[in-house]
Amino acid sequence: MPILSPVLNKDEIEAVITGIAENISFDYRSKNLVLIGVLKGAFVFLADLIRHLTIDVEIDFIGAASYGAGTVSSEQVRITSDITIDVAGKDVLVVEDIVDTGLTLGFIRDHLAAKAPNSVRICALLDKHERRQKNTYVDYVGHGVQEGFLVGYGLDHAERYRQLPAIYHLKSE
Ligand code: IMP
Repeated sequence: MPILSPVLNKDEIEAVITGIAENISFDYRSKNLVLIGVLKGAFVFLADLIRHLTIDVEIDFIGAASYGAGTVSSEQVRITSDITIDVAGKDVLVVEDIVDTGLTLGFIRDHLAAKAPNSVRICALLDKHERRQKNTYVDYVGHGVQEGFLVGYGLDHAERYRQLPAIYHLKSE
């Protein structure tokens, strides 16, 4: 039987997002900001984040999948669904639910940088920095976590648990 042990409750998530949104609103106050949510997990975080911003933004989404031959270091990432907004000359902020090894975000950042934006930065609600494989710098981090598998608030395990309003550590008995 799976056990869900609480990591961040609704109020704690709200406080984290309020802080990130304040920083983003200030840093991009005179820029043309495009927020790009990474499907599917970031959709809940992105929806709450934009409602705490005090600046005008454009929104798009990108899908990525990893495939590989066993070891994490051999994993390849591919884009499954690309953005449709022209980001040339604009400031891009990639919004992700959780950074684990960093391979997905590193690939997405390089993919978007090739579209000639003015800048590309990364925002992640959760950061599992202990497992980082690639030197992917995260500019805005909500909450650092230890190793373990997290679900809820958009994060899934085999497509389950995304609807939970809080974030949990998924353990098996
Ligand atoms: P990466 O290892 O940083 O490339 O992470 C790949 C993807 O795995 C991320 O975009 C997340 O959506 C997902 N992921 C990583 N860790 C977790 C977790 O603890 N729970 C749910 N999804 C995760």
